[in-house]
Amino acid sequence: MSSNWPELAPAFLQVVEEAAIACAHTMGQGDRHHSDHVAVEAMRARLDTVPIDGRIVIGEGERDKAPMLYIGEEVGRGAKGEAGLMQVDIAVDPLEGTNLCATGAPRAIAVLAASERGGLLHAPDVYMEKLVVGAQSKSSVNIDAPVAHNLEQIAKCLDRNVSDLVIVVLDRERHGNLIEEIRSAGARIRLIGDGDLTAAIGAAVVGSGVDAVMGSGGAPEGVLAAAAMRCLGGEIYGRLVLDTDEKKERARAMGVSDFHKVYKSSDLASGENIIFAATGVTEGSLMKGVRFFGEGCRTSSVVMQSKPHQVQFIDTIHVKEQANRRGLRL
Ligand code: FBP
Repeated sequence: MSSNWPELAPAFLQVVEEAAIACAHTMGQGDRHHSDHVAVEAMRARLDTVPIDGRIVIGEGERDKAPMLYIGEEVGRGAKGEAGLMQVDIAVDPLEGTNLCATGAPRAIAVLAASERGGLLHAPDVYMEKLVVGAQSKSSVNIDAPVAHNLEQIAKCLDRNVSDLVIVVLDRERHGNLIEEIRSAGARIRLIGDGDLTAAIGAAVVGSGVDAVMGSGGAPEGVLAAAAMRCLGGEIYGRLVLDTDEKKERARAMGVSDFHKVYKSSDLASGENIIFAATGVTEGSLMKGVRFFGEGCRTSSVVMQSKPHQVQFIDTIHVKEQANRRGLRL
């Protein structure tokens, strides 16, 4: 029997929980590819139990480069031959922050977003210039305006001084000028090693300590951030960085015709029904990392949906059957 959207949210929660638990076992082992691989395997296995006719639109890459969760791959019970299921497009990042997990650094997460067919942009795996802000400042910023102007606007909307703001920027050489401009304007900066998607979620949650995310990061992470913004009321402004003919060609092949377009969350995640689910892998301020305790583990997740609009922070204790018989020790 076909499910409806709200019924799918708990199923997607289990998908990201299992991916997070699998890769959390590898935390600090120094092998980012292995961490990613186990997250992908766990996510793939659980996805096939979900009652959907699913299709990956943002995944681990092209079919020839990614053995699992490749773009275009069919997932869900529909892929096993079950008929009459809802057609769902899926964007995944089984481990966002592979280096963070491999080194035990904070803010690695397992993520999935879903929409009805056609509701998530098929973004090429290139960089995207991004400006992510929360609901209060979303109508006052412009990705093409000078950085100092945007900072003044954000401060005004939040009723603060520019010097109180915290702007998250990926610590990359390409951001040298941007960092200088933010510093000259007087705002504070949190330079992160990886994970601009986790930072983007923070920008849309009041009290998270993040006021905006600026700079370029992965376009696939931009689509996932847009799905989160659709549920949280924040905004992402993004422009694909297509600085070579080869990238333009890849973008064209995925249906992009305007190479300078500034996308908003309603362009990147245009579906009427959006579900976004993420589980913390390593410690974070919005979601704790996976904590193991012998008989099982405890996870911390967020599940959001656009319709009906709902945001839930969920703490789950996963126990092995044996522990059920012996009683739970936390
Ligand atoms: P992975 O999870 O694939 O390692 O990506 C982490 C990340 O930091 C993203 O959050 C970000 O969008 C992208 O990589 C930035 O790419 P780059 O490391 O090339 O600057």
